Amino acid sequence: MEELYQTVREQIKPVEAEIRGVIPPWLNGSLLRNGPAMYEVGPEAYKHWFDGLGMIQNFKVENGKVTYCSRYLRSQAFVRAEARRGIAYAEFGTPLPPDPCKNIFARFFSYFVPPERTDNCSINVVTMNGQTYASSDSPFLIGFDPSSLQALSEYNIRSDFPGPVRMFSMTPHPHEDEEGNVYNVAVSLKNGTRYNITQIPPRPSTPADTAPHPLQGVNVLSTFTPKNRLCYYHSFAMTPNYFVFIENPFVVNVWALLTMKMRGRSFHECMKWDNKQPSRFYVIDRKTGKVVAQYKTENFFSFHHVNAFETETDIIMDVCCYPDARIVYQYYLHHLRSKGEHEVSKGFPDPALRRYRLPIPKTASSSSWQRLPSYSDGRDYKVLYYGVELPQINYRFANGKPYRFMYGVGPHQRGDFLNQLIKVDVLGKEAKTWHERHCFPSEPVFVPAPGAETEDEGVIISSVVGVRGKKSFLLILDGRTFREVARATVTCPMAHSLHAFDIILEKLKKPDTDHLLTSCCFPKVTQSTESIQSDEEPPIVEITSASSSPRRRRILILCSIRKAFYFLITNLAIADLLISLLFTPMLFIYRVYAKAELIAYTPICEISLFLSMFSISLMYFVFPLLAYHRKDVMLRPQNPRLSLVQARLIVSIFWILCIVSAVFMVLMARNEFTSGDPSPKLYRCLLINQRLDTYAKVFLGYSATLYGLSIAFTAMIYLQIFCTLRTHLEGVNGSADERHTTKLCFWIAIVYTAFWTPFLLVQLAGIFGTYTELYFNLHGCSSAIGVLGSAVNPLLYAVMNPYYKTRMCDLFKRLTCRETAPTVTEEI
Ligand SMILES: [Fe+2]
Repeated sequence: MEELYQTVREQIKPVEAEIRGVIPPWLNGSLLRNGPAMYEVGPEAYKHWFDGLGMIQNFKVENGKVTYCSRYLRSQAFVRAEARRGIAYAEFGTPLPPDPCKNIFARFFSYFVPPERTDNCSINVVTMNGQTYASSDSPFLIGFDPSSLQALSEYNIRSDFPGPVRMFSMTPHPHEDEEGNVYNVAVSLKNGTRYNITQIPPRPSTPADTAPHPLQGVNVLSTFTPKNRLCYYHSFAMTPNYFVFIENPFVVNVWALLTMKMRGRSFHECMKWDNKQPSRFYVIDRKTGKVVAQYKTENFFSFHHVNAFETETDIIMDVCCYPDARIVYQYYLHHLRSKGEHEVSKGFPDPALRRYRLPIPKTASSSSWQRLPSYSDGRDYKVLYYGVELPQINYRFANGKPYRFMYGVGPHQRGDFLNQLIKVDVLGKEAKTWHERHCFPSEPVFVPAPGAETEDEGVIISSVVGVRGKKSFLLILDGRTFREVARATVTCPMAHSLHAFDIILEKLKKPDTDHLLTSCCFPKVTQSTESIQSDEEPPIVEITSASSSPRRRRILILCSIRKAFYFLITNLAIADLLISLLFTPMLFIYRVYAKAELIAYTPICEISLFLSMFSISLMYFVFPLLAYHRKDVMLRPQNPRLSLVQARLIVSIFWILCIVSAVFMVLMARNEFTSGDPSPKLYRCLLINQRLDTYAKVFLGYSATLYGLSIAFTAMIYLQIFCTLRTHLEGVNGSADERHTTKLCFWIAIVYTAFWTPFLLVQLAGIFGTYTELYFNLHGCSSAIGVLGSAVNPLLYAVMNPYYKTRMCDLFKRLTCRETAPTVTEEI
């Protein structure tokens, strides 16, 4: 699946697609798609599918022909990332890496500044009052020209929202009624968490209206307080008389959010699945804005509402549901990329199209929580279809009304990842599907035929990304039969996008250039007005080739450090081998010296002492470090906490400490040996004399302290792993993989403790007792056992942890440092 989630080059100049079949002559206009497409910036990489920098794609259908173009959205997240050659904002699953350009003090103090929200609007395309915007689950909207895809202006609802209340984010799935009013849900945090239903009225388009603000005339129709903490919400439902908002127990920890920068957390890591909480439905009267009913049910997680409508007695709600929020983990790039085409969703539940029934309230307001009525099988929902996501309906025809057909994507077979298009008859519960091998369709868009009389009279359009040599194409299916009508194959790479908006049958608006760059917070990198209207291909400069040599050197150095770090950390066998090679032979050499009663002080002795002390230090420091990294690998494989810069710092400190401690012990030995003692004690590299002196006690104290700390720290980390996984098992992380990891964790902890504890006991015995012949023998044996134990660990990892195995294989595969600079182009 790696091919599907690679950074894609933008295609600014429209290219004509090769048509197979016949495109309906009435189908003219543009299909605008939005989605993440750049997953690496310089040496840094985004972790989650939702985090990639957004790209707008335009399929322009005109007189039976199709042209394709794409352009990265010039958000601040994009522009700053390009400027600093690294990730500039924390994203949903990617924490903000420390800025290598800042010194250590600036970095320290920057941890106390709340993180800026990203404006990477890479989720959806929405229109309001004739203007087109890229949107996401953030406070930002970026207006762009639907023809050239050029960003025009950026709006921040947090600062631009009128009135005293600051709104923090809106959903990327607003609703629109027949009059053109646009409705959305925004959250405000003043005096506690509040959800607000907003309404943006239609605005007559007049010549004077040259700089429309998307929030102009916005009203807050309703404000209500949630029962639970601030939750993740992505969409909502609207019927002719009601709004329905679902509160999932995937909640935000505000404290974690405030300290996320300091703790190097992503937004996702500030959220947790509160399994003790139910899911709650809030029914809001559209006329009064009051919450008129509140229902609770067994908890579930959802991204998307399909539709909702009213009967005489009930509000019927169709939602794509998951049993919990585990699906969010599935979308981490490491998971998507490492799994095969038919293995991606193994262990994850398929999304189910559920139908809930909410009784229409008889009173004007309600403050009590009621259970939803049950269906005949005892559940308060019924499943209309298993395995469908990114739902769409004939929105203009059916939104808020009884309907029959929904369209979406889903897995073709168990374990697949959204590789077929589906048309579900929600009444007959039947489905028609479209699937082709090595093809991944995007969210389908239904376009009604002119004068259509039935709900499914029209076509389904979906962009399909091909892998394994298959070319990507725009697919057009017949709405009724779900059979292919035509496909338009493009030769350039295409990104796997999330959501789309069609402006079919509408004349493309001429770009409203008067308000170009009107937003003060928008970067001055967008093109000039002339270039917007020019049909010529803009000049393109490859950033990768334009890298200056100092920058290139810096990237190479960083890559080398990263390689060295991962080589040491990831490949436990090498670290253990190093310890074995340096440490164990020394034991036997000194043993021979002791038996022969050799008393000598030579440079070779100093070198051997240095090496043995260095290896001991290496061992003491490396195990907690490895344990910490194991925790990262196990608990946060999608998002290891150690960034490249932190890793560099830790490795530097680690090596310095090892060297300093070894030098210190060598100097101490030299001082003692040359102190003029008439009967110099035997060289005390490893305390082979039987009389303990100051040097011996220092040596033993040093090693026992470090080793004790090492065991304590490691045990603490493994305990954390256990506790976290145990919690997750009850909550969102109860997958087979994670249960497997728990098992591995216990085995490693047992092996580590069992193999190294004898060594610690011998060291302690040496401090408080006489270091006899027996102790020396025990010392040698216990060290050998410990080293043997650490040599077992990498085998356990490789056998029991697929991620570790993949990572080790990857480590050996990448013999050369790969520059991860994106293949993005930048206009000048
Ligand atoms: Fe969505």
